[in-house]
Amino acid sequence: MTPWRAGTMLSAMTGTADHVGRNRTAWDRWAAGYAGAGLRAWAKTEPSWGIWAIAEARAGVLPVDLAGRDSIELGCGTGYWSAWLARRGARPVGLDNSAAQLATARQLQDRFGLRFPLIHASAEQAPFTDASFDLAISEYGASIWCDPYAWIPEAARLLRPGGQLIFLVNSVLLMLAIPDTEGLPATERLLRPYFGMHRFEWPDDESVDFHLGHGDMIRLLHGCGLQVEDLLELRPEPDATTRHTLATLEWARQWPCEEVWKARKLC
Ligand SMILES: C[S@@+](CC[C@H](N)C(=O)[O-])C[C@H]1O[C@@H](n2cnc3c(N)ncnc32)[C@H](O)[C@@H]1O
Repeated sequence: MTPWRAGTMLSAMTGTADHVGRNRTAWDRWAAGYAGAGLRAWAKTEPSWGIWAIAEARAGVLPVDLAGRDSIELGCGTGYWSAWLARRGARPVGLDNSAAQLATARQLQDRFGLRFPLIHASAEQAPFTDASFDLAISEYGASIWCDPYAWIPEAARLLRPGGQLIFLVNSVLLMLAIPDTEGLPATERLLRPYFGMHRFEWPDDESVDFHLGHGDMIRLLHGCGLQVEDLLELRPEPDATTRHTLATLEWARQWPCEEVWKARKLC
């Protein structure tokens, strides 16, 4: 099953307590299939975002100066984002719910001679004291695999006043337009309701992912003391390629397929 694609959408109130364990099982099973992509990403010198590998130089998401900044990657997977941050002078910590993903991250640390702490925990309950970090980042990590009503308050708690939260998710439009059938890309029709979007389940898989509408996300961020600075709707280059089947290039050139939220903790 390809991750990051919606199945059956459940309301905000249906069973939510089980998703951390279910996603841990799923990611321990999927981890081997992500090791190659992790290696390729670690080998890249320039950071890039999402399934179309949109260059940071074009997207302009990161703070210009990362030197000496304490960062935490929530759902770090193979850890390539933390590696890129370290190469820009940050002091990263990678946190992930899957021991198998972290094992790949450790192998890649050894291979590239670049080490930073890797913590096995859920981003909904991070084992750090308040105000420990200047930057919290997530690219398809906690940002879609954790309940936003749990992980975003936790990220806000971890940030120092003035610290930044940056996360990439599937766009809201994509989540409304992607069919239930595995492997089929987003359509030009809205296939499910926007109102009430929160928890998504796969008909034939144990994993659970989460996606909020824009109004709900803005209210949640504000409620956690985070001021929204930007919502970047990423557009791939005309010749971009991807191994993922979420959307065709033609679709992603017309509608945002991925979006990056930037928010800052109020001082
Ligand atoms: C698609 S990967 C994203 C990470 C990275 N960008 C990558 O591709 O390697 C998703 C990661 O989120 C992690 N994850 C899922 N639920 C989590 C949770 N509750 N807390 C922390 N990480 C979680 C998974 O274990 C997985 O490694």
